[in-house]
Amino acid sequence: MKLLFKNIKQLLQIRDNATISLKGSEMKELPKLDDAWLLVEDGKIVDFGKMEEIPAFEEVETVDASGKILLPGWIDSHTHLVYAGNREQEFVDRINGLTYEEIANKGGGILNSAKKLQETSEEELYVQSARRLEEVMKMGTTAIEIKSGYGLTTDAELKMLRVIKRLKENYPIAIKATFLGAHAVPKEYKENKDAYLDLLVDEMMPKIAEEQLAEYVDIFCEKGYFTVEDTHKILAAGKKHNLIPKIHVNQFNSIGGIQVGVEYDALSVDHLEVMNPEDIEALKGSRTMPVALPSCSLFLGIPYTPARDIIDAGLPLALATDYNPGSTPSGNMNLVVSLACMKMKMNPEEAINAATVNAAYAMGLSETHGSVTKGKQANFILTEKIPSYGFLPYSFGANHIDSVYINGKKI
Ligand code: NIG
Ligand code: FE
Repeated sequence: MKLLFKNIKQLLQIRDNATISLKGSEMKELPKLDDAWLLVEDGKIVDFGKMEEIPAFEEVETVDASGKILLPGWIDSHTHLVYAGNREQEFVDRINGLTYEEIANKGGGILNSAKKLQETSEEELYVQSARRLEEVMKMGTTAIEIKSGYGLTTDAELKMLRVIKRLKENYPIAIKATFLGAHAVPKEYKENKDAYLDLLVDEMMPKIAEEQLAEYVDIFCEKGYFTVEDTHKILAAGKKHNLIPKIHVNQFNSIGGIQVGVEYDALSVDHLEVMNPEDIEALKGSRTMPVALPSCSLFLGIPYTPARDIIDAGLPLALATDYNPGSTPSGNMNLVVSLACMKMKMNPEEAINAATVNAAYAMGLSETHGSVTKGKQANFILTEKIPSYGFLPYSFGANHIDSVYINGKKI
C-alpha cells in the first residue's frame, strides 16, 4: 500500500545516506523543503519533492498535510522505561528538603525501585511498561532504548530484559536493550562490591549473551556507585560478549569515566551535567556520542549539560529523556527539545538534529532512522497546523502533534 503526504508546509530533516552524525556548526542546519509531498511504500520512504513538481500517482492513499509540518519521529536513546510502581514519595521528600543523594543513602533511590521490581511479576511488569511505551509513541517517539538495572539480581535483571524482548516483539517501534546491572550496589553486597561485579560478569552477562537479551552494556560511573576501575571491568567484560558500551557518567561528579568510555569506543556517554575542559577534550576525535538528558536536570534541580561548550568545541550532541521513576518520570521528547532550547541555549535546529539524526547514531540506527532519506523507515511526526518548526520548542508543554507514523502506519 502506498501512502502520499501532500501539501506539506515544511518537510524537515532531508539528508542523504551519508549523514551519520552532525557535529559543531553542522548542527545549526536543518535542511527542509517547503510545500512538499512525500511517498511511502512498504513502510519506507520512497520519494519526496516540491508540490509544483508532483508526479501523477495511482492507487495511493492520500494525507492532506496543508499547514502542517512533517518531520522524522523522535528517537529516545536513553530510557529506563521498564520499572515497577513509582517513587512519588521520594518526589515529596525532595520537595520537603532531602536531596537525591540523601534519599539514596537512606535506601531509597535505585534500591527502592529494585525492591519493587523484584516483588513484581514479569506479567505485571510488562503491563506497566507497555502502557508507558504506548504513551511515548503517542508523543512522537519512534525508536527507543530501554535499560535493565532495577533488578540487581540475576533473576530480576533477566526478568527486565525479557520484558524488553516482549515489547520488541509486540510493538512496531524499534527498541534496543541495554544491560545496566551495574546501576547500584545491592544492600547485600554493600561491603563486598567486587563480589557483585563478579556476579554481573561471570553469571549475568553470559546468560544475557546466550539469550541475546541485550545489545548494549551500561554502568553508573559515579561517586557512591561505581568507580572508573569498575567501569573498565564491566566494559571489558561486555566487549567479550559483544555488548557495546553506553555509560552513565558525569551526572554529579567528573571522575574520569568519559575517558574510559572513549577508550572502549562507547557508542555514547550520557548525562554529562558536570563537565570539565579535559572531559570535552577527551571526546574530540572519538566516535562516542555525548548525550544530554535535560528533563532529568529539570526534575532534580541539578545543572544542565553544557551544550554550548560541547557543540562549540566542534562535538556532536544528542538528546534523550532518561525516562525513569527516580530522576525523570517523563518520557516526553517534545519537552526535552524545548528544554534544550530554553535551558541549554540550543537553537531549534540544533535541538531537532540532536533528537533525530544524532539520537539515531546513539542507538546504532543511522542507516534506517532519524532523517527523511529515501529508503529509510517511514517514521514521522505530523504536526497540527502551526506557523513553523520553531513553534514546537517555543510553545513548551503544549502538544502540537496531529499524528505519529511508524513504518508508514499511523499509530
Ligand atoms: O539516569 N543516574 C542513574 N540512573 C538513573 C536514575 C536512577 C533512579 O533514580 O532510579 C538516571 O538518572
Ligand atoms: Fe539513565
